[in-house]
Amino acid sequence: MAETKTILRALAGETLPTPPIWMMRQAGRYLPEYRAARAEAGDFLSLCYNPELAAEVTLQPIRRYGFDAAILFADILLLPQALGADLWFVTGEGPRLSTVTTQADFDKLGRGEMIHDTLNPIYETIRILRRELPQETTLIGFAGAPWTVATYMIAGRGTPDQGPAHALKAENRALFDALMERLTEGTIDYLSAQIEAGAEVVKIFDSWAGSLNGEDFRRYALEPAKQITQELKRRHPGIPVIAFPRQAGGGYIGFHEATGADCVAVDDSVSPEWVAKHVQPGGCVQGNLASKHMVTGGQALVDETRRVVEALSNGPHIFNLGHGITPDADPENVKLMVETVRGA
Ligand code: CP3
Repeated sequence: MAETKTILRALAGETLPTPPIWMMRQAGRYLPEYRAARAEAGDFLSLCYNPELAAEVTLQPIRRYGFDAAILFADILLLPQALGADLWFVTGEGPRLSTVTTQADFDKLGRGEMIHDTLNPIYETIRILRRELPQETTLIGFAGAPWTVATYMIAGRGTPDQGPAHALKAENRALFDALMERLTEGTIDYLSAQIEAGAEVVKIFDSWAGSLNGEDFRRYALEPAKQITQELKRRHPGIPVIAFPRQAGGGYIGFHEATGADCVAVDDSVSPEWVAKHVQPGGCVQGNLASKHMVTGGQALVDETRRVVEALSNGPHIFNLGHGITPDADPENVKLMVETVRGA
């Protein structure tokens, strides 16, 4: 039977008359119904580990906007937690973790199969979603890329320049490489279990890929994405992979071919015209409207949305923002963006 899900058609390389659309962080604090569910759960991590409520918030933006894809509600920092790191969120500030900076810290981490003990509720969320999603909606699973996850594990928090991770890489390369390897293996096992539970596509978020230069970019952004993609495709033939090496700039060029990813997601530090010329020839691209338009709205939102659609209309494209929607966004602006994409 011919594939009817538009996201899967775009990922297979088809150029569609209207690009399918979803939005990073589409379940989030800009939605009043999300804030209510989070209050009911108590806190963010309790929401992630409550399959019924996590499925509910995943469905909220689908009901409101009819997006073509749902993204599993979870977080990239659940994997380090499942490997044994302590994890908590400070309201208004962000994540905190126990740090990994010495061999002794590293030796305390677990590996392999043990991650599923913690992550089982996430797989249950996926099973619920496959029953409850509309049949035309694709379910996307995800994980953080090893480098991005390592930056949080090494620093114990988010950092503006990923300084502590760069420092460990410079000062104790063997330990840094061991952590990267452990995270690569864990990511493969985690995404593999998501696929077995029903995820139809997986996305690898490398939010801090832009701070890796030259040989470091090849070794710590491109190479892990390739290893994860190739092993997932060996275990689960036909499962599409979206890679998001955010702010890679020139590093986006050739990323499809070098990793085997079916789609490369691009942020808004590059123009859609540049992406059409340099990245889309490699395969499907996803992006890249600046998320500030979800706050500011108006004619600029309409014009820029049309510009992204038009620039990327000659090849496979999934419409998205260049990064996650922010809590101060207006839900009406999201509606306007969806109508503009579908009506353009
Ligand atoms: O896209 C989605 O809707 C799916 C769910 C999802 C979340 N986080 C939910 C979330 C996804 C895909 C992520 C990815 C994620 N998490 C990344 C990579 C993507 C990116 O944005 O760069 C990173 C770096 C994280 C780690 C993380 N989680 C941080 C730094 C924070 C705090 C930042 C903030 O805005 O408060 C989170 C919390 C988080 N993850 C929230 C959500 C909806 C907000 C938590 C809340 O409700 O208070």
